[in-house]
Amino acid sequence: MTRKKGAAEAPLFFLDIFLRKKVTPLRPIQLSPRLQAVAGCVPPGARFVDVGTDHAYLPAYLLQQGVIDHAVASDLRQGPLERARETARRYGLGERISFRLCDGLSGVSPEEAQAVAIAGMGGETIIAILAAAPWTRLGERRLILQPMSTLPELRAWLQGHGYAIRRELLRQEGHTIYTILDVMPGEMPPLSPAECWAGRQETGRGDPLRSALLEHLQKRVERALGGIAHSDRPEDVPWRRELEEVLTGVKAMRKELEACTP
Ligand SMILES: C[S@@+](CC[C@H](N)C(=O)[O-])C[C@H]1O[C@@H](n2cnc3c(N)ncnc32)[C@H](O)[C@@H]1O
Repeated sequence: MTRKKGAAEAPLFFLDIFLRKKVTPLRPIQLSPRLQAVAGCVPPGARFVDVGTDHAYLPAYLLQQGVIDHAVASDLRQGPLERARETARRYGLGERISFRLCDGLSGVSPEEAQAVAIAGMGGETIIAILAAAPWTRLGERRLILQPMSTLPELRAWLQGHGYAIRRELLRQEGHTIYTILDVMPGEMPPLSPAECWAGRQETGRGDPLRSALLEHLQKRVERALGGIAHSDRPEDVPWRRELEEVLTGVKAMRKELEACTP
């Protein structure tokens, strides 16, 4: 005999839905290719800080995947930090992320930061954050930097201030190619003007996106040169010289890359 759900059973019915909802495992966090590449540079077990965390997807992903045990998530603004707290709550990671409302690394101690990600910000902001925390150029530390702009200035600044770029990764999202810099304290051989723009070219196993990146950079430099071609302002002279040097270097890199592409 089947029974209709009576009034007495209704609360049990809702309790069952509630419990089921509670125990349903949350889906794994999916990162964009750009953030996935940043995550891939974080050494397992590192005390990790995500500067400018916004939604905290990066630390949440690393915790969920068991790459790290604990993270500091910092942001300059209250709104993004609230979003970060919300992500941590949703994925049950609230106890394992420490939230800091601060400018850059100002609210973080060196001991908490074996690996630091600064992603999705302008190169100038990244420089300002590192310059204000000179301890980042000391010890066994990994800095994973993903600038949205001003890459030539950032590479040159790193080289001149006690940081070494270990490797560079490229990732494409839509029409944009993002560069991820994997950096450590230390010395690196000087970069030429073209290398400041395009990164050092690895011989042999190049990144599959390198060719597209160089083509894009060449067009950018040619456009910039076109803009000052007829300028007789004295301040444009060194800029024109630098751009010409970059153009020559980038063309040589493209040639070298073509020569070793099968
Ligand atoms: C575009 S979001 C990037 C979020 C995430 N890191 C990513 O790559 O997807 C930039 C975040 O950096 C924060 N931010 C900007 N300047 C900052 C600073 N000086 N210190 C800390 N956070 C900063 C902003 O509030 C914002 O939440």
